Amino acid sequence: MFEVLPALAPDPILGLSAAFKADTNPHKIDLGVGVYKDELGNTPIVQAVAAAQTRLLESETSKTYITPQGVPGFIDGMLELLLGAGNPAVVEGRVAAVQAPGGCGALRILAELLKRCNDNAKVWVSDPTWANHIPLIGNAGLELATYPYFDKATASIKFDEMLEQLKQVPKGDIVLLHACCHNPTGADLTQEQWQAVAEVAQQQGWLPFIDSAYLGFGDDLETDAFGMRLMVKSVPEVIIAASCSKNFGLYRERVGLAVMVTENTAVQPIVQSQIQAIARGIYSMPPSYGGALVDIILHDPDLKQMWVNEVDAMRNRMRDLRALLVENLAANGAQKDFSFVNNQKGMFSFLCITPEQVRAVRDAHSVYFVDSSRVNIAGINKNNVEPLAKALVSVL
Ligand code: LMR
Repeated sequence: MFEVLPALAPDPILGLSAAFKADTNPHKIDLGVGVYKDELGNTPIVQAVAAAQTRLLESETSKTYITPQGVPGFIDGMLELLLGAGNPAVVEGRVAAVQAPGGCGALRILAELLKRCNDNAKVWVSDPTWANHIPLIGNAGLELATYPYFDKATASIKFDEMLEQLKQVPKGDIVLLHACCHNPTGADLTQEQWQAVAEVAQQQGWLPFIDSAYLGFGDDLETDAFGMRLMVKSVPEVIIAASCSKNFGLYRERVGLAVMVTENTAVQPIVQSQIQAIARGIYSMPPSYGGALVDIILHDPDLKQMWVNEVDAMRNRMRDLRALLVENLAANGAQKDFSFVNNQKGMFSFLCITPEQVRAVRDAHSVYFVDSSRVNIAGINKNNVEPLAKALVSVL
């Protein structure tokens, strides 16, 4: 039976990890998959998570199924984190939500929900967007289209073109927006630009679909939620896929939340029933563990503060690494001005070099990053930054 299937090329992002592992060069550098790393190149367990694990181990008394919606305290805590305390949509009972296996799980079940609402809906994604958005949304049977976003030549957002395109998107279509720390470019909308996009969403009536995977890695947890909260305030319906992989460091536990802000309290239970039925038909119900940890952290003031401090430390370190890379590139003779890297936010930067240059630096110097020129800033450290800069300069 399986002989009919062709072997597929490795995933453009995850495939880099396997290639990196197989490389025997002791000086290899991994700037591929978006995983936070410390100065030693390790991804330690976030301390607040470690403390929550100890508590959970002591307090959990059963492994029976949780409810299809997920861990209740996880959902409440996450809604407050994403939408702010006392958000009117939550208070009014207009928000449906379900815990999902990772941000990816949330993206997929939301895409399935959209398909149920409108078979012909088109989902508009930024050009470029995270590579996995395409199969996650497209495999649900939805058509994808792109809106202009990033100009590699100027290393900046093509905001006028983006807005012009969004003004043509009709009611019934969906626009996917990155809440903060745009993946792959690191180029984020300003608050004024979010305002303009929200006005277009209001005028046109398209549905904002927000992917929030890096909350806290841009400016801070509150500022990074600005655009998402503005959308919820501006239009009657918004959907959000949130991930706890990066900011809680819960990558392998697959912790995410699908949020649907609905127009009124009559629609909310309908949407809640639909999304739960979709999940039931794919994986039945979410795993408990990671959501239970986030619940503990978000409801204990000391643990929450510990976690906020850790998010701040990760963000500040990545900001410092940007400056270090820019300095080292200039000091090692780069003719190209890379100072734009300092203005980008979060875990990723687009170096705005060609795929040929990316492959050349991989082949000649064992530096691994995505062909689009996206680098994981957290993979840089004080020891590898100079060899990295020299390697990059050698292929420019
Ligand atoms: C990334 O963009 O590198 C991460 O979100 C990991 C992934 O699944 O692609």
